Order: sequence, then C-alpha cells, then structure tokens
Amino acid sequence: MNLGGSPKGPGRAGGLPFDMFDGAYTDAEARRARRLESIYHVGQDRIWDGRAVLSSLVEKHGRPRLGDRETRALGRIFSIIMWGELAAWKISAQLADVLVDLEPKMAAASQVHDEARHFYVMHDYLEALGYRPPPLDFWSRRVVEMTLGTDDVGKKLMGMQLTIETIALTIFQRVREMNVEPVLSELLPYYERDEARHVGLGTQLVPAIVKDMGVRQAIDFVLFELDLLFSTLMGLKAMEPDLLSIGVDPRSILAIGFRKQTELNREMRHEFPWFPEDPPVDRAFHGMCEALFPTEGSGVRVPPARRVAHAMGVVARTRKSVLQTYDRHHAAAP
Ligand SMILES: [Fe+2]
Ligand SMILES: [Fe+2]
Repeated sequence: MNLGGSPKGPGRAGGLPFDMFDGAYTDAEARRARRLESIYHVGQDRIWDGRAVLSSLVEKHGRPRLGDRETRALGRIFSIIMWGELAAWKISAQLADVLVDLEPKMAAASQVHDEARHFYVMHDYLEALGYRPPPLDFWSRRVVEMTLGTDDVGKKLMGMQLTIETIALTIFQRVREMNVEPVLSELLPYYERDEARHVGLGTQLVPAIVKDMGVRQAIDFVLFELDLLFSTLMGLKAMEPDLLSIGVDPRSILAIGFRKQTELNREMRHEFPWFPEDPPVDRAFHGMCEALFPTEGSGVRVPPARRVAHAMGVVARTRKSVLQTYDRHHAAAP
C-alpha cells in the first residue's frame, strides 16, 4: 500500500496521483483494503442527524440541568472533548488529503464528516447546559498539537486513531455508565459508535507502517509515542478533580482504556502475527500510570519515592499495575 506521508507527496503538492491504481495488492493488503472501504460505507449507512438527535433528547428529558459544581465539572471535561473533536476533524482532514490509496482515503474522508458532526453537536450540547468552553489546558493541548503538527503519517495515525480515539471512547463509556446527565447519556452512544469505527483506520494501517521502519525511525516513533502517552496521562491528571466531582475515578478510565488497548493489540496481532504480545511501550505506560494514579486511590497520599518504586516494580513486572488490578466491580462503584 502507498501510505503517502511525505510533505511532497501527491496529496500535498496539489497534483493527482494518476499512478494510484498501478500497484497490485497482496491478498492481505486486499483484505485490509476491503475493511477500510467498509469504514466509509458503514459510516454512510449509520449516519445520524446531529440537530435532530440532540433536539429530540432535549425534548424527551428537558434541557440539561445540574448543580453548579456538577455543571462546571461536566462542562470542563466535555469542553476538552469538544476541542478534541475539532482537532480530530482537522487531523482526519489532513489524513484524507495525504493518504494516497483509495480505501484508506475513503475511511479518513468519512471520519472528517463524522468529526464535524461531533464538534457542532458537542458545542450545542454545552450551550444547552449553559457552559461556555474555555481553551484547552496545557497537556491536552499538547496531545492534540503534537498529533496535528507531525508530518509523519504513522505518528499521526497512532496519535489520532489509537490514542485520542481510545481515551475519548473510555471517557464516553464511563460517563454514560455513571448516568451523570440523561441527555448526554443518550447522546454518547452515537459518538461511541462512530469513534469505534475510526479506530479501524489505525489498527489496519499502523502495524504495516511500523513494520517498514528502520531502527532510527522506529526509535523516533517510540519516543513520540511515549511523549504522547505521558502528555495524555498528565491531561487526565489535570481532569482528575472534575472527574471525581461527577463520580468517575480516573483509574476506571485507565482500566477500561487498557482493556480496549489490549483488544486492539489482539486484533493487530491477528492480522500481523509478528506484532508483540506485550510491547515495551505498554510496560512503560503502565509504570507511568502507577506513578501518576497510584493503586492506593485518589484520596490517599503516596510519597513520591514510593510511587517511583512502585512504578519501577510495574515496569519490571514484579508488581501488578493499577490498570491490571482495577477491578470491574470497583469501576462500577467508585
Ligand atoms: Fe469524534
Ligand atoms: Fe473519531
């Protein structure tokens, strides 16, 4: 597959890639191409009218109303989501431009349309809630700007499809399960369905890109990934007080995210058997989670030295991580 990615590639230079159908797909590539193509077609079949859905939910439940504290907490969390949707809109538009092959380009183009809907519906929801979205905090802004700013298609897909989409999906699931506000609880499944489809562009393309990397490029990719994951966790840390205010323990987000990531890794291994079962980046991520969100819980003070020791134990596999130990029951009743 021709994945484009060069700033001088056909998509960026303004020319058309008239040779785009010249190469032949291997069987595996043809299978992946069909899956990517179906992201577009399924997106078209399941499209929803954002204005109609939101207004029917407001009609059913009334305008979203919460206490001041909950309104501020929910407003701040979903402002981050709203700006994230705008970033996703821009990033998927970049991908739709730069990807050369027909099927991934179609998948990215259908994502652009979805993210535009996600953005305006979230804006309208926050307006109905009576909350004016503030700018993004430093760390969340860093996550989206790193992903927006890179010219490397592999990094962009890993940042957008495999990191930002996954964390958004876990926040949606958890807030919906906690039933914080009825309009939002019924709105979020529409988002979740779309975002789950978007992840597919990453799982179908990223392993193929990683496989073709030289050593230097692979090291650069991993450092970018670690930086992005660290920034994501710091963003979640900044959100922690608001999450706790609406009854969501950030550890439950990490635990659900970890399960989703494990599932994605399994899918990628199914298609690309060489894909590592327990990638070293994941171990490092588990260590970072333990240092920032100790297993002891949000209200417990854990001295920095002990946090570091526990994090190192997690990386060395002598200790289970907060992601592995956070039990689903616990997640259901934080
Ligand atoms: Fe979205
Ligand atoms: Fe998305």
